[in-house]
Amino acid sequence: MNRRTFLGKAGGALGVAATGSTAWLTACDASSEPLVPGPSEDGRGVPLPVPGTAQTGGLVLRATPASTRGGNGGGIGSLAFNGSIPGPTLRVRGGDRFLVTLENGLAEETILHWHGLDVPALADGHPRLAVGPGASYRYDFTVSNRAGTYWYHPHPHGRTGPQVYGGLAGFLIVDETPGRGPLLPSGDREVLLLLQDKRLGDGGTPVYQPNASDRMSGFMGDTGFVNGAPFPFALVERASYRLRILNGSNARVFDLAMSDNQPFVLVGTDGGLMDAPHELEAVLLGPGERIDVVVDFSGSPAGSTIRLHSRPFQLVGGMGMGMGSPGDQGRAMDLMEFRVRDTPAVPSPAFGAFEPLEALPNLVGARTRSFSFSSMMGLHAINGRSFEMDRVDVRIPLGNPERWRFVNQSPMPHPIHMHGGHFRVLSRSGGRNAILPWERGYKDTVLLLAGETVEVAVLFEEHRGLFLLHCHNLEHEDAGMMANFEVV
Ligand code: C2O
Ligand code: CU
Ligand code: CU
Repeated sequence: MNRRTFLGKAGGALGVAATGSTAWLTACDASSEPLVPGPSEDGRGVPLPVPGTAQTGGLVLRATPASTRGGNGGGIGSLAFNGSIPGPTLRVRGGDRFLVTLENGLAEETILHWHGLDVPALADGHPRLAVGPGASYRYDFTVSNRAGTYWYHPHPHGRTGPQVYGGLAGFLIVDETPGRGPLLPSGDREVLLLLQDKRLGDGGTPVYQPNASDRMSGFMGDTGFVNGAPFPFALVERASYRLRILNGSNARVFDLAMSDNQPFVLVGTDGGLMDAPHELEAVLLGPGERIDVVVDFSGSPAGSTIRLHSRPFQLVGGMGMGMGSPGDQGRAMDLMEFRVRDTPAVPSPAFGAFEPLEALPNLVGARTRSFSFSSMMGLHAINGRSFEMDRVDVRIPLGNPERWRFVNQSPMPHPIHMHGGHFRVLSRSGGRNAILPWERGYKDTVLLLAGETVEVAVLFEEHRGLFLLHCHNLEHEDAGMMANFEVV
């Protein structure tokens, strides 16, 4: 199928926009330059795309339809920020003024959310703030987060799934203060990896057309994409690399590992560095979660290739169709390849001292709130209710620590994400029955498998106003597995 017929077909889907079709494809400008090359004809893959870096003092981020062309002649209808997939990497430091304008060049409404940043409510990208085609939205706040790996993506109600899948996502890095904390690989040896999965249609083009079962389990693909390219490769020297990894897929949980079984040295999580490094063979990462790991290629033979992949895994649960099944979750997937160059081996230097985490908030006498997540008969709900834009579900007093209990009442995984701050995981009961090593630091998203209950400590200290708690499975979120809470 050539590109023209693909676009024609997508255009025909306009009438079913309400069911989540890719209506934005129709706005494709057929003459745009390719953004991301497809798999090359010799089958050797494409180099890992590296988005440019942008400063946030006065940046304009323009979301527009774009097109990419596969090496096999297939076109990909897609969306980009400033013509780039992923969007430009924003690098800031604590205390910086963050002044960014979103311009909506799409054919539908959108709004931007800075995932993991503590910002005033009006800068948080709540869907009630979404702006229509041609309009813009100005963000102006001071960065107050710890150094860490954050990201940005759209948040319009009911359309977050298709917009993120289309390519609207980017990294937002709060950099460490030089000279403080551990010594980690940097420069060319710091690599940002946005992991996604796409479903390829005729001609190798990603498609987004959720059917009833996708709306239950979330939309999952059959092909691993990293930074917008299918199974790309990166040339590496025989040295240590810092990989900041984001699961930016709509619904897929990855059980990440290196194909040669060499360990990840975990140094950070959602909200920044941990207090000590931790060696791990694999990490089960849900949509929205990040890990910061060091991998050491100094012992890898020159000329060898090592894959970053998601290992197959089995989910417990699956209680029949009515309750929804985890679908395709757990299939093995190759994500990218590291090709080791013939360079002298540079042994991994010592990290030096990590800084301690803050003490947990004092929860003596703290209030406990329960949020249960259910997926039944096509309905995704929190405490039995689906999202309503103007209904405030809970009010939380500023400055009072609380214990929040997340209960999974369904057979499928739910990555639970909180806006407005970070939490600390206190316990997990049922299912895996433990706090995993990558859950020991500051988190804004935590994965709940079937049967699991997770308790977290939350404390809102800075900003009053309306924020969100939701499942980061984007089809669940779009279907209403989201609640408003107001910090008062
Ligand atoms: Cu990354 Cu409310 O989302
Ligand atoms: Cu968020
Ligand atoms: Cu969910």
